[in-house]
Amino acid sequence: MRERSGTDIRFKAADVLEWRREGVVQLPNFFIQQEIEPVVEDFWRVFPDRKGAGEPMIRKKPGQVGAFNDAQFRNFENIPFDCSPALNLLGVHPALIRLAKSALDTDRVHLYQNQAWAKFTGEADFDQPFHCDFGNHTLTVPSCDEHLNAITFLIYITDVTEAHGPTHYVSKTDARKAGVPIATFSGDLAHQDKLKPFEQSAAAPAGSLFAYGIDVYHRGTNLTIPEGFRFAVTSCFKKAGNDSIGYMAWPFHQTKPWYKIFNHGTPEQLSCFGVPAPGDTFWTEQTVNLAQLRYPEWDMGLYRDAV
Ligand SMILES: [Fe+2]
Repeated sequence: MRERSGTDIRFKAADVLEWRREGVVQLPNFFIQQEIEPVVEDFWRVFPDRKGAGEPMIRKKPGQVGAFNDAQFRNFENIPFDCSPALNLLGVHPALIRLAKSALDTDRVHLYQNQAWAKFTGEADFDQPFHCDFGNHTLTVPSCDEHLNAITFLIYITDVTEAHGPTHYVSKTDARKAGVPIATFSGDLAHQDKLKPFEQSAAAPAGSLFAYGIDVYHRGTNLTIPEGFRFAVTSCFKKAGNDSIGYMAWPFHQTKPWYKIFNHGTPEQLSCFGVPAPGDTFWTEQTVNLAQLRYPEWDMGLYRDAV
């Protein structure tokens, strides 16, 4: 994998413009090897004793389009996990927060989904139909203003070739050419046939980033390589305060090891989960003291100092 130079310029203004125009942008080798290696180890802790089969599972018949099934999501879990900070904080890496703020043109973003997703050859037929994610990220439809939608980051933790189930997608320009310019619900066979000639692959080495919107046609593809596996992290950001977008409420998972995030996250990373920043009026002597009781190892110096 290519090593990054001394600078930390992981994306350019042109990448943000491409995301706004096309709804997608690929950023190969966004993360360096040293950032990804501990995440691989964390995946094996979270999904132990799994192994890809020698043969892929193929459910669809020739000529059929892919379909959703529960087995595709068997190893699709919310953070936090009882593992190192590497996996727990990858989805709120400072460079991702910067990219999300830039894409959504805002100073404050909220992380509304962050999951580890492991796929193993033969565990499912991972081939999906083209769909847009707004179906389970909104109760209505995507906004016409991309700033009021969301940006999803798909981070490949292992090398993803065509045989490792890369995401396939259709850019907004190509969707217009295909005659399916406006996001619709999945399952329309006529749309599948129109989109198919324009599909592109997001196959890329470990550490690569695929950013896309909730109004972009894409689909999972099958793992066909014998004994193969694909590890990926998804994280989804919206403008803070945008109540039209959602997926989960973090406190619903209060029994998970949140101290892993609090003990190692920066105030900016924690703010993505809805934790008020130091200096916010939420923080008083009482709230700081109680929060410290809840997370005894959390370094609350900045919060305490600002009270
Ligand atoms: Fe999707």
